[in-house]
Amino acid sequence: MERTLIILKPDCVQRRLMGRIIQRFEDKGLTVAAARLMQISRELAERHYAVHVDKPFYPGLLDYITSGPVLVMVLAGPGAIAISRKLMGKTFGFDAEPGTIRGDFGLSKTYNLIHGSDSPESAATEIAIYFQPEEILDYSTADATWINKPSEA
Ligand code: RTP
Ligand code: MG
Repeated sequence: MERTLIILKPDCVQRRLMGRIIQRFEDKGLTVAAARLMQISRELAERHYAVHVDKPFYPGLLDYITSGPVLVMVLAGPGAIAISRKLMGKTFGFDAEPGTIRGDFGLSKTYNLIHGSDSPESAATEIAIYFQPEEILDYSTADATWINKPSEA
């Protein structure tokens, strides 16, 4: 089953939106395979956002992502990476379509509530930054055969 790394960012935690946002992923049929509430260190943030090191927004991004607790999760399901990005919406809240997480809950460029891996390669790298393999549970939910037609799996 495909896996993606999702982070509910500090603004999401501070605004008490965690439950409503997790609900959207569960409603869609994705499964929580791992979860940890933590505060991201500077060193971890630098590893996670290494790809943005030369961007003008990088210092502000590091301040933001390390500013308070976050909920880091691995979500699993067919097409989990692309589905999660669709549910999240475009990067900036003011651009994101209504109906998406960023479109419904924010309007900022930086404070955009959530991170999701953008490719299979970044999902693999990012999951390995936050979780040991044994911390990620591989299990089926009771409704699995009705969420995914078995012959499509
Ligand atoms: P993410 O990596 O967090 O899932 O977000 P993304 O793919 O939609 O956007 P990305 O381009 O990777 O940017 C990473 C995060 O940096 C902040 N950002 N601020 N002020 C700005 O112009 C700006 N641009 C990006 C956002 O928090 C964005 O999610
Ligand atoms: Mg990104």
